[in-house]
Amino acid sequence: MTKGGKDTKPATRLAGAGRRKDWTGIPGQPGGVVNPPVWRASTHLYEDSADLAKGRPNEDGHFYYGRRGAPTQWALAEALTELEPGATGTQLYPSGVAAIAGALLSVLRSGDVLLMTDNAYQPSRAMAEGLLKRAGIETRWFDPLDLAGFPAQFCQRTRAVLLESPGSLTMEVCDIPALAAIARERGAVSLLDNTWATPLGFAALSRGCDLTIMSLTKHVGGHSDLMMGSVTAAEPHFTRLRRTSQQLGQVVSPDDAALALRGLRTLAVRLDRETASALSIAEWLATRPEVAHVLCPMLPGAPGHEIWARTFTGGCGLFSFVLKGRDEAARARFIDALTLFGIGFSWGGYESLAIPFDPAGTRSATQWPPADWDPADRLGIRLSIGLEDAGDLLADLETAFAAMERG
Ligand SMILES: Cc1ncc(COP(=O)(O)O)c(C=O)c1O
Repeated sequence: MTKGGKDTKPATRLAGAGRRKDWTGIPGQPGGVVNPPVWRASTHLYEDSADLAKGRPNEDGHFYYGRRGAPTQWALAEALTELEPGATGTQLYPSGVAAIAGALLSVLRSGDVLLMTDNAYQPSRAMAEGLLKRAGIETRWFDPLDLAGFPAQFCQRTRAVLLESPGSLTMEVCDIPALAAIARERGAVSLLDNTWATPLGFAALSRGCDLTIMSLTKHVGGHSDLMMGSVTAAEPHFTRLRRTSQQLGQVVSPDDAALALRGLRTLAVRLDRETASALSIAEWLATRPEVAHVLCPMLPGAPGHEIWARTFTGGCGLFSFVLKGRDEAARARFIDALTLFGIGFSWGGYESLAIPFDPAGTRSATQWPPADWDPADRLGIRLSIGLEDAGDLLADLETAFAAMERG
């Protein structure tokens, strides 16, 4: 635990986390630097043969070999652990998808059943249908909003549940604490893809989840210039997670770890600003005649808002909306007319993005569009609201609606 300690608020922890004196100074010299420097290292040196023979504890903070990281990666892992109440440690991965794989492989073995939320990020679904299936792990999909039906999903072989809330693209908000409690009662481990909320918006481990996963590529990096993922857990899961990660040879570069640490310091202010802008834009979209549904958990009256307000402590700039009965060409006109929004995958950077989506063919346990919607209202657009002026973004969206209608 570094500056500030466990009892401080997240904003204070963000400023001090991971800044151990050992990693920001030189032993025997007073003073030091603010940030842990970039330690580029494959070989770690030992004092002598006796030191080599003694070995090192398998935990961060001990020089051993480059694959176990050095102070830059340790500082980032420790900072993420400090942000997650109840955590023992954090493992870093070269992408968010690698983090999801590392977490799942640490808890599942051949013959197990995994319950995966039907709104999971598409590569998580692909992992279930490819890698996990080949390893003898069966995946069953469930409707995250059907709390009453959830207990019936479990069988003797159910070992783990993968949750993601809000759901990728479609933004369904499930009752994570309630689902995690049901999983725990049935002896299953719950894993949460918490990329959207981060520990600032949802403290996963203290709300009953066992492993919490983030794509650091998104909010933590925050500047669209790095790929990375993390998994944070308490014991007994953390030891298994670390072992699996080491067997898979996972390591991140010190340069990227330093960038992610830099991003982390401003996470709270960026999230606050993006949340406020997203909410004002979502409110405005809800008044537009071209829009059938605004899928923004922070917006009162929007799907999932009640659960979000009850269980989350923060939001972010990522949300979606669905056009009223327009076709693909109209949607493309809208997106192509945007000048302040880039067109691209990913999200959580300082710059705004827009992407079309239509997940109709990727559902197993649920239906898209939902049965109670007009089936003509099905073409979605996801916005990642960045740090630009919200009024400018709104004006850009207004111009794009006009271009869409001009045909
Ligand atoms: C919810 C969610 N989880 C995980 C990932 C994967 O992260 P990465 O792109 O770092 O592999 C993404 C990427 O878009 C995502 O949206």
